[in-house]
Amino acid sequence: MVMMLMKATAIANSNIALVKYWGKRNSDLMLPHNSSVSMTLDNLNTMTTVEFSENFSEYELKINGKTAKGEELKRVATHLDLLQDSSPQKRFAKIMSESNFPKKAGLASSASGFAALTLAGTKALGQNLTLKELSILSRRGSGSASRSILGGFVEWIKGSLLDGSDSHAIQIEEEGHWPELSMIVTIISTEEKKVSSRAGMSQTVKTSPFYDAWLDTIESDVEKMKQAITKKNFTLLGKIAENNALKMHATMHTTIPPILYWESGSLSIMKEVLKLREEGTECYFTMDAGPQVKILCQQKDLETIKSRVTELDLVKDIIICHPGGEARLIEDHLF
Ligand code: PMV
Repeated sequence: MVMMLMKATAIANSNIALVKYWGKRNSDLMLPHNSSVSMTLDNLNTMTTVEFSENFSEYELKINGKTAKGEELKRVATHLDLLQDSSPQKRFAKIMSESNFPKKAGLASSASGFAALTLAGTKALGQNLTLKELSILSRRGSGSASRSILGGFVEWIKGSLLDGSDSHAIQIEEEGHWPELSMIVTIISTEEKKVSSRAGMSQTVKTSPFYDAWLDTIESDVEKMKQAITKKNFTLLGKIAENNALKMHATMHTTIPPILYWESGSLSIMKEVLKLREEGTECYFTMDAGPQVKILCQQKDLETIKSRVTELDLVKDIIICHPGGEARLIEDHLF
């Protein structure tokens, strides 16, 4: 009998939310309290190979060349078990994953990671799923991963059904819609963060007195952001994105105990962005669950902003990104 090779490799881009997802209504199914909008990034990606075999007796995971254990291995194993829910026989797998940027530093490594794992994993199992199905499954690994399945500009619709079957991402505009829109990702620290976004969200929902205020303005932010994207209105996009990020961080700062992802370098960059704007160079910042600041600007101002930011002492590195494409399968395997 010829054994079918149960192996596949996928590459997925990371995404940065322009209107953030922060807080879950159901943490087992990863159902959010609010919808979110993101841009998929062409220059931050994760490549993952998954191979299932009857001969394997455990899951084996390597991330960026290092064997992963503990919580990290458990999350991936749970996800691959989930992908096999409808299979008659459960198999273990070898998984190798490589990202071109530091993980767990607030650069959405779990977004590209779980999107690539879902696409490679389902393909290796012989399943050919729709983008909606892939988005729903990726969401179960990491909420933001639901958006990394798609390219360009993406909305993750929060949904209202209890089983989560209507909580998935859809594309607002494809990546070619607005190629001039640029994001300068500044790297201030590559240390892994102490509070995961999962723990941070849960603490915020439970203890921040501002969480309801966050939810009160979110749907209006989502609507305005979608308009800004479709009409390529950079000023509206930047204003909403910056204000939305600050509102999210305000909910974190007011939890008990407080969650402060900002480092002094983060603040220096945020102030530099405000200064550039005062001087007439239009740019805006956004931040996630980590110290890195992402600057939104237009292609014509990229060089000016890049050189100003590079001059700041606390900036270790910068990565320039533009809208990127959807997750895809590739022929070259990592092992
Ligand atoms: O799904 P997670 O665990 O990667 O959480 C993402 C949280 C934020 O990055 C802060 C916001 C977002 O929408 O990506």
